[in-house]
Amino acid sequence: MLTDIQEVLFTPEQISERVAQMGEAITRDYAPRVEAGEGVVMMCVLRGAAIFMADLARAVRLPLEMDYMAVSSYGAAAKSSGIVRINKDLSGSIQGKHLIIAEDIIDSGLTLNYLRKNLASRNPLSIEVAAMLRKDIPREQDVECKYLGFECPDEFVVGYGLDFAERYRNLSSIGVLKPEVYE
Ligand code: IMP
Ligand code: MG
Repeated sequence: MLTDIQEVLFTPEQISERVAQMGEAITRDYAPRVEAGEGVVMMCVLRGAAIFMADLARAVRLPLEMDYMAVSSYGAAAKSSGIVRINKDLSGSIQGKHLIIAEDIIDSGLTLNYLRKNLASRNPLSIEVAAMLRKDIPREQDVECKYLGFECPDEFVVGYGLDFAERYRNLSSIGVLKPEVYE
């Protein structure tokens, strides 16, 4: 797999250090709410955020519900179609609970803005986003993200859950895919 990687952007050590910091920030911010008896749900946007959420959830020192939603926006292509489809909805209710959306990467932001709108209509107490990566590009619409791992260059990246055509998700680093692999 590594032979298809042009450049490693983030090593496993860098990733785990950053995820630990994000977990600490979430713990600090949500501890008073948990103490007040309010519930917290961390939801994973499948499939890309599965590995990130597994690590992030364990870095949070508070009771959490974990739930999963599957959406597709890209198919097997490397460019956003702008179409977001829900393939699997949450199993539980988020009404009256705090929701943290764990996302792998914010590119155009279309996926998250769609999800935020959809989830807000279910009356959670609050919604925040924890994203591992955000591409450093100008965007038409703002995308709110309270907890961010890293900014990354505007290239196609894989690893740590991110795929190209369902490959490379199990790479433990995050790297730029060689363009000849997807061109
Ligand atoms: P957005 O709607 O354009 O923000 O795209 C978000 C989704 O597209 C992410 O959750 C990823 O699943 C996928 N995606 C965007 N950029 C990349 C990339 O560089 N590598 C792998 N997947 C990506
Ligand atoms: Mg995704």
